[in-house]
Amino acid sequence: MNNQPILEINNLKVIFGDKVILENINLKLHKKEIMAIVGPNGGGKTTLLKTILGIYKPVAGEIRIFGKKYKRLPKGFVGYLPQKDLINYNFPILVKDVVCMGRKILKPFPSILNEEDKDSCYEALKKVGMEKFIKESFSSLSGGQKQRVLIARLLAMQPKILMFDEPSTGLDVVGQEDFYELINELRMENDIAILMVTHDIGVISNYVDTVACLNKSIHFHGSPKDGKLPDVLEKVFGKNIQLIVHDHQCLTCKGHIHE
Ligand SMILES: Nc1ncnc2c1ncn2[C@@H]1O[C@H](COP(=O)(O)OP(=O)(O)O)[C@@H](O)[C@H]1O
Ligand SMILES: [Mg+2]
Repeated sequence: MNNQPILEINNLKVIFGDKVILENINLKLHKKEIMAIVGPNGGGKTTLLKTILGIYKPVAGEIRIFGKKYKRLPKGFVGYLPQKDLINYNFPILVKDVVCMGRKILKPFPSILNEEDKDSCYEALKKVGMEKFIKESFSSLSGGQKQRVLIARLLAMQPKILMFDEPSTGLDVVGQEDFYELINELRMENDIAILMVTHDIGVISNYVDTVACLNKSIHFHGSPKDGKLPDVLEKVFGKNIQLIVHDHQCLTCKGHIHE
């Protein structure tokens, strides 16, 4: 079996100004693997995703895809869904056009889609169970449905890796479970790997293969079922692990935000 990692990060270091944001980052992501990155706010999780995407340049270390260094990620190689506060959810556009935007990224200018491209867009919507909504307006959908359409947009690029930054923010418990079920199906059927930043410590053990606990460096990398994980989480987050806050909301706080 070819078990070469899709993505391999070696000794990565990122600084902003004179502040070290990430150092000694070593990670490997394999086909069909779901990896969760957990860590406190400001720990560098989003920075890591953006460095993989090539938005930030590391000062040391390297990132390889299929064992090779790259100057620029191949078009569509990574499908990235940013944190929700960075997405304009009320943009007046049809569902089909949202998905087609993903496909257009693959085409040389002037990015005209042929029948095969349009079929791929429909297939992508089908994979997330949203094909019935193809002619609807995007802004009329629920939060969970919008997220599915945005995932279809990424799938239309036929990526090898899907990266999500705090995808379950704003979803209720059922929505969260739906999301995890969906990504589980997607990785089974599409030979992709999934790298996600999440605060869902309570549910990840059911759905993810590996956890990387990040606070400037990696404090743990292994199975969520590893008995060492709770201790590491307590060390990295502080004692009240159940009080981890989302960037904009608290998971379990009743009434007020704890630090
Ligand atoms: N573009 C930037 N320029 C300077 N500092 C940044 C930038 N982006 C993030 N930072 C800083 O880097 C640190 C890590 O941020 P971030 O990666 O967003 O953390 P997380 O996603 O884990 O909450 C924070 O201290 C943040 O203020
Ligand atoms: Mg972040």
